[in-house]
Amino acid sequence: MHSHFNMETESKAVSKGVGPDFPEELEYESGFGNHMASEAIPGALPQGQNSPLVCPYGLYAEQISGTSFTSPRKLNLCSWLYRIKPSVTHEPFKPRVPVHGKLVSEFNQSNSSTTPTQLRWKPEDIPHSPTDFIDGLYTVCGAGSSFLRNGFAIHMYTANKSMDNCAFCNADGDFLIVPQEGRLWITTECGRLQVSPGEIAILPQGFRFSVNLPDGPSRGYVAEVFGTHFQLPDLGPIGANGLAAPRDFLVPKAWFEESSCPGYTIVQKFGGELFTARQDFSPFNVVAWHGNYVPYKYDLSKFCPYNTVLFDHSDPSINTVLTAPTDKPGVALLDFVIFPPRWLVAEHTFRPPYYHRNCMTEFMGLIHGGYEAKADGFLPGGASLHSCMTPHGPDTKTYEATISRGNEAGPHRITDTMAFMFESFLMPRICPWALESPFMDPDYYQCWIGLKSHFQLDTTDGANEKDINNMNGHDEPKIGAHHG
Ligand SMILES: [Fe+2]
Repeated sequence: MHSHFNMETESKAVSKGVGPDFPEELEYESGFGNHMASEAIPGALPQGQNSPLVCPYGLYAEQISGTSFTSPRKLNLCSWLYRIKPSVTHEPFKPRVPVHGKLVSEFNQSNSSTTPTQLRWKPEDIPHSPTDFIDGLYTVCGAGSSFLRNGFAIHMYTANKSMDNCAFCNADGDFLIVPQEGRLWITTECGRLQVSPGEIAILPQGFRFSVNLPDGPSRGYVAEVFGTHFQLPDLGPIGANGLAAPRDFLVPKAWFEESSCPGYTIVQKFGGELFTARQDFSPFNVVAWHGNYVPYKYDLSKFCPYNTVLFDHSDPSINTVLTAPTDKPGVALLDFVIFPPRWLVAEHTFRPPYYHRNCMTEFMGLIHGGYEAKADGFLPGGASLHSCMTPHGPDTKTYEATISRGNEAGPHRITDTMAFMFESFLMPRICPWALESPFMDPDYYQCWIGLKSHFQLDTTDGANEKDINNMNGHDEPKIGAHHG
């Protein structure tokens, strides 16, 4: 064996499929953006310096940078990994065969198209044929370019099989993974993460990871950001506490496997294309690490939501979990926003999301339950896309049910729901397989077509409160000519 490592440990078995070495309960480090240190063997971290002539236990020192070396200290992300063999020990990268074909990292007229139409998809079926996380991943839409380090991509995945003897590495950007069905057991170079639906995982650019699917059939959403990283949003007048608390972000503890893995494959996403490189050992051979550039997870049920306590409706930004910023203050490359269970208490207020047109683009998904603005048609595992300045809002059923409840609606707890939004200031282009998908809902617009005019000029005595529409659907105000 090339490695100088020779201590007996209990964590040697290679995990293939659902290995018994992936325990039901894992321990984590806690905190967001902290500089952390973790060692699977006491004394494995060098003391006093990062790169000693010989590291403890004969490990190799290797740095991974998430920001340029000279990024300001408050933004600087890097970690030191102490590993049995360094990452560079592999055969040359080659284009993966077969070509993936459904991953995009540079959106242009040759690979995607654009439409202002409101789009909605039903949940995609989980494949019957063996499909792992990599093969099951497909880009839905996005904008910009990973080459130019500015942009985003939104992907979804449907899969049923664990990655076998291979690891994925995304050179293009950070993944924010939102599992909707099926748990993800993710082995990373920093250690292992168990991620259930209702939790999210962030896998920063460059980290190698492998996804096991202990439940088999699995579905979820992935936001990818190019050229920046996710941060906690500023809280402004909310104060020092609220929304996602830093201590609820969980980081893996160092874990490694030391074994020969003939034919082990690193699958590298680079400019949206996949390349493979062979090596004869597991990349999860990091015995100790320290730094602030790490994978992490977060349980969305820990989120502390804020909203009005008297009247009107907060903008959805009030529920931002994480934001990938641009250089413009308050303008996000991509916000991750959730709509969790919570109390609605506003008086004399239309409580569902208001009708609006947004200069930002909104992609929505639903993890479980229903969504307050859509009585039907927006299903767990489905998605919707409302692009820049495209109008949207509650469907007809929701509008009518809300106003018929009237002002007397008491405090109401929204339960059994977890919807989310990826919101970006960039205008997305849409991939052809998403536009032509059999799961596309061609009748989405119908949910608003039934919105009728409630307009009436004389409301003084309440005598005219019946519907002023005729049955043909043509609006005919009873009094006078057309308004404005
Ligand atoms: Fe919206």
